[in-house]
Amino acid sequence: MEISMYNVGVIGLGLIAYGIDKDPNRKIIWSHIKAYKSIENIRISSVCDVNKSLVDSIQKECDIPNGYTDYKEMLKANKFDIVSICTPIQTHFDIIKECIKNGVKVIFCEKTISYSLEESKEIVELCDKHNVIIAVNYIFRWDNLIQEIKGLLDSNAIGKIYSLVGYGATALHTSTSHLIDLLLYFSGSEIEYVVGDIQKDFVRNVHGISDVGGTGMIKFKSNSIGFIKGTSSSPMKYMFEIDILGENGRIRLYNNGSSYDLYKFSSSENSSGSKYEYLDLVYSKHNTTPNERMIDAILSLIEGIETGKQPVSNIKTAIESIEVIESIKLSSMNGNIIKFQ
Ligand SMILES: NC(=O)c1ccc[n+]([C@@H]2O[C@H](COP(=O)([O-])OP(=O)(O)OC[C@H]3O[C@@H](n4cnc5c(N)ncnc54)[C@H](O)[C@@H]3O)[C@@H](O)[C@H]2O)c1
Repeated sequence: MEISMYNVGVIGLGLIAYGIDKDPNRKIIWSHIKAYKSIENIRISSVCDVNKSLVDSIQKECDIPNGYTDYKEMLKANKFDIVSICTPIQTHFDIIKECIKNGVKVIFCEKTISYSLEESKEIVELCDKHNVIIAVNYIFRWDNLIQEIKGLLDSNAIGKIYSLVGYGATALHTSTSHLIDLLLYFSGSEIEYVVGDIQKDFVRNVHGISDVGGTGMIKFKSNSIGFIKGTSSSPMKYMFEIDILGENGRIRLYNNGSSYDLYKFSSSENSSGSKYEYLDLVYSKHNTTPNERMIDAILSLIEGIETGKQPVSNIKTAIESIEVIESIKLSSMNGNIIKFQ
């Protein structure tokens, strides 16, 4: 059987597009370009960055025929199956619209989709109208360990979820958005309301935009409660942990998302004959050989082209984390509970 070839374009050629994989300590692929280059039936025909010297060097290093400094020109001149958007957040909205206008059917957009909930909602409408798939790079959703935890939760391994506590670092649109996204994924529930507070003693500047840290509580319609701590005094003080407590057990994700423990309540009779149930460790799992999740993410995009199936992180799941971020900020400003529909 003949294998279909897919034509890819990449817009924005900084850290997440390529540079991140120059770090020799990284065990798996993190960048869009390296991941695409590892898949046989994908050809990156074009790259674009406003920085011409970056375009030239990446074209040369990665053997990419077409280079552009204007994404509109690139999108007009080519027919792409997939376009990756790896530019600063404030540029995503215009670039997504231009991709859709030029017939791109699958977009792999960096997180977060936008700083604005209004823009994010408009993107959702455009995707529905033009039948476009957008995968948002919340990469943990393609991680095997995270998938395993989701499988445990869905199979009721710890029973009904009471609480999900996430510990992360600054700031809301930066690393905390990954944490929020996973809390929403694990909860498997719609949101009832959010209460929050933004961090005021340290604010990150990300590509010229103030990205604040924050703390929030999410009440889910399932009755579970989510807590998010997304604050720190420096972006270098990083942590990523989630602790999920259910009626029959507990799952604790730690080591920056690369290990988890499963605990279950089990009974033991004490000396006075009372039967208490205590949380006992059932097993610990360490992701010493993580899966190539960027490649898995791209394979799910190809599946999207071929079958229309939405990837595990898509525009509709991604807009929920924007809603939570907006609600934390709004609640912090007016002191109110922010109710969801
Ligand atoms: N998924 C993750 O874990 C992860 C990690 C890091 C960054 N990100 C996201 O990736 C995106 C890029 O971040 P980065 O750290 O790679 O930034 P970066 O500054 O290293 O790279 C961004 C590149 O985009 C280029 N650019 C800016 N405006 C452009 C335009 N209009 N047209 C073409 N090129 C343009 C810049 O010149 C720069 O080379 C952001 O949305 C960020 O939130 C995600």
